[in-house]
Amino acid sequence: QQLQMDIEQIEKGGFEHFMLKEIYEQPRSIRDTLRGRLLPEQGLINMRGIDEYKEKFLNANRIIIVGCGTSWHAGLVGEYMIEDLVRIPVEVEYASEFRYRNPLINEKDVVIAISQSGETADTLAAVKLAKSMGATIFGICNVVGSSIARETHAGAYTHAGPEIGVASTKAFTAQITVLALMALKLGYMKGTLSESRYMRLLIELNSIPEKVEETLKCDPITRYLAEIYKDSNNALYLGRGYNFPVALEGALKLKEISYIHAEGYPAAEMKHGPIALIDENMPVIVIAPKSDQYDKIFSNVQEVKARKGKILAIVNHDDEDIASIADHIIEVPETENIFSPIINTIPLQLLSYHIALLRGCNVDQPRNLAKSVTVE
Ligand code: G6P
Repeated sequence: QQLQMDIEQIEKGGFEHFMLKEIYEQPRSIRDTLRGRLLPEQGLINMRGIDEYKEKFLNANRIIIVGCGTSWHAGLVGEYMIEDLVRIPVEVEYASEFRYRNPLINEKDVVIAISQSGETADTLAAVKLAKSMGATIFGICNVVGSSIARETHAGAYTHAGPEIGVASTKAFTAQITVLALMALKLGYMKGTLSESRYMRLLIELNSIPEKVEETLKCDPITRYLAEIYKDSNNALYLGRGYNFPVALEGALKLKEISYIHAEGYPAAEMKHGPIALIDENMPVIVIAPKSDQYDKIFSNVQEVKARKGKILAIVNHDDEDIASIADHIIEVPETENIFSPIINTIPLQLLSYHIALLRGCNVDQPRNLAKSVTVE
């Protein structure tokens, strides 16, 4: 028993929980996921799985991304990236819905299955179904040799390393990293992404591990904010564009480990329902980095403010407008909009972690949840 505990302590590498360790590992796990693939000096992205199925990808009628939980959120980010840079229509499906709704699939479709464990029953079944209907299946898995990885035609592993905490953290940012590499490579091959933008994005992607490192410096402020927000019964997360899926993921993290009811919404949808919930007791977490949608989200924040909602905004360092009306801010480094989900997820992971801790929750093994769901 004592030995077991000692081993666990060593595995946690000095961190109190696996989740915190894994949050802090992200600069490295992203770098590992980029290693050997992203070669900015040569203007190259190496991904054998894409090269092998190049024609299938470039001639695809559409790309369907399937996954569950956090992996599904990564898929949503992938949708924005691929449609933006590759100009192929993308649909993102919950694996469980996809497999049971008699989907229309044919050999002109490419299905991307995203799964940390590579063992999620619904995702595996979705893969088998799409494969039987002639689609090309590409896997993004973290566990090497896992069932989904074996079932796919090709794929690209995330190199996040073992993820022990039930709530996914470093696997999510690694999944987005792989999707970014894919979108850049495909966009450049297809000619939908200009050489200059491609090069600019390669260089920026290469700097993301460093920016994640810098972002982690917000840990003390998230700990401080956790004290303020820990007794909330609800929370609303808002984002637009690339950061809408981040709002969903932020809300999921909070639900999973702190048991506070939270919802993620596209900021503009707020007026179609959730705005009715806003009063002085409702924390609203807004993901609002600089982007072409900044002014839009600023007016959404003003709407929340007018209803006395408590605003916590994730903004860039030089932000003025939103920072001036928010109750609290967390500053993060600026990056290209397309990579901003990686950066903006970090403070939300930390915030959930600290809130859960203060509420006395079992951070690494939240009640009723499993790390991999191998049954339906
Ligand atoms: C479970 C885990 C989540 C994970 C989801 C999908 O619900 O608790 O963290 O996102 O399964 O798992 P996968 O291994 O397929 O990514």
